Amino acid sequence: MKILVINGPNLNLLSKRDESIYSNFNVDQIVELLRNEFKEFEFSSFQSNVEGELVSKIQSADENFDGLIINPGAYAHTSIAMMDALEICKIPKIEVHLSHLANREDYRQTLLTAKNTNGYISGFKENSYLAAAYLLKKIIR
Ligand code: DQA
Repeated sequence: MKILVINGPNLNLLSKRDESIYSNFNVDQIVELLRNEFKEFEFSSFQSNVEGELVSKIQSADENFDGLIINPGAYAHTSIAMMDALEICKIPKIEVHLSHLANREDYRQTLLTAKNTNGYISGFKENSYLAAAYLLKKIIR
């Protein structure tokens, strides 16, 4: 099973962000964690700060992958384009957030992209991704 892991803006700089909110892992280390824990999956990783690049990657995901784990970063709260691309993409897909969004600012309470995923996980730092992989295993057929 091939799983695509997409990370959006500013997730390439986790080492410079508040690790008490996010994680002390960087994106490569998170993907490494996934590879160590889920040997049955083949993980590919894509990170971009550019909304259009993220849209294009989501558009082509169902031709090449069996499942998608996506952390859209701040675009989770704003991007109708990514939300629409996720609607078109028919493979099982789970949104993840490192931080606990329910405990954060009002402007992070709008979740656009999550509407077009199977569900979302928030607040478990790097383990949010592990939970997503576990759940993908349950829903991919
Ligand atoms: C985030 C939460 C977003 O609100 C924020 O803009 C991020 C990271 C998270 O993983 O907790 O960049 O997606």
